[in-house]
Amino acid sequence: MKEKIKELIELVKTKLSEIKKSSEGQNIRVEFLGKSGKITELFRLMKEVPADKKQEVGQILNNAKQEIEALISTKEKTLEKQELEQEIFSAEKIDITLPVKECTGSLHPRTIIQKEIEDVFISMGFVVEDGNEVETEYNNFTAVNVPENHPARDMQDTFWLDNGEVLKTHTSAAQNKILKKYPLPIRAIFPGRCFRNEDLDAGHENTFFQLEGVIVDKDVSVGNLIYFMKEMLSKIFKKEVEVRLRPGFFPFTEPSFEMDVRCPFCDGKGCSTCKNGGWIELCPCGMIHPQVLRNGGIDPDKYSGCAFGLGLDRMVMLSLGINDIRELNSGNLKLLKQFKLNV
Ligand code: DAH
Repeated sequence: MKEKIKELIELVKTKLSEIKKSSEGQNIRVEFLGKSGKITELFRLMKEVPADKKQEVGQILNNAKQEIEALISTKEKTLEKQELEQEIFSAEKIDITLPVKECTGSLHPRTIIQKEIEDVFISMGFVVEDGNEVETEYNNFTAVNVPENHPARDMQDTFWLDNGEVLKTHTSAAQNKILKKYPLPIRAIFPGRCFRNEDLDAGHENTFFQLEGVIVDKDVSVGNLIYFMKEMLSKIFKKEVEVRLRPGFFPFTEPSFEMDVRCPFCDGKGCSTCKNGGWIELCPCGMIHPQVLRNGGIDPDKYSGCAFGLGLDRMVMLSLGINDIRELNSGNLKLLKQFKLNV
């Protein structure tokens, strides 16, 4: 009996060495351990075994059964692992002979315009910075001359965080860090996402983008401000534009202005974009307030500066004829896909 079992185990091993698929393991299991399997047959012979040998023979047969089952399942597991690896490998295989699919994605129109504006300013010697979206109360307000309890804080409906910080309400929040970071003279622009608790309509979003700029040097004047803005706008609208300043109020600039551009779509004759007024209100700006310079570690008796806070979304809407600011954050691919980067 022992010899017979040894032979059968050897036979199992040989058969296992020949199979290529894990599913074939089951055939061997049936052949040896199934209802009429070779080992099961031996169990049937038990009745002929003398009583005093039954226990010993029974033990031997049970051991053989367990050994064969272990051999089969080990082989099955090895094959299963190989099969899985093969499947993963073939799924990831790249067929380099396939034709290239046309890329259907495109940059967001806001990103396109932002890049164009950045390029113009870079060509005029500006660095491009960015700011945090979560800012300290100091950077967002106090540093830009909006102290605690000042009514100007009410101009912006702020999202306050539990820890006393804010979702930045304007890109001006980065001014202080930039004034401290760079040696003078400074020319920097800093585009960024801003947040305010607005009632939403075609002209207002709670999440919007601005592009801010600061210029600090000896004897900076309103003339410099006009020059840089005119240059930028002429490049973006691809024609010489005319601008005008109206008085405005911002705590961080003195004097403060609203900059209008003569409507580039009708050359000021009057159209739906400029609501027949001939001018489009575009960009708040002004001469940096001496206190803001001081907060940035700059002596206002030696240096002066100008700043502007362009509404990037408004600029995009104007350039592309989009009427509702909410479209820009909507993920409406029908609208967004119309604009591709022309480089
Ligand atoms: N931070 C202002 C706002 O969001 C915009 C602004 C106005 C920025 C005048 C400036 C500036 O840099 O000089 O309402």
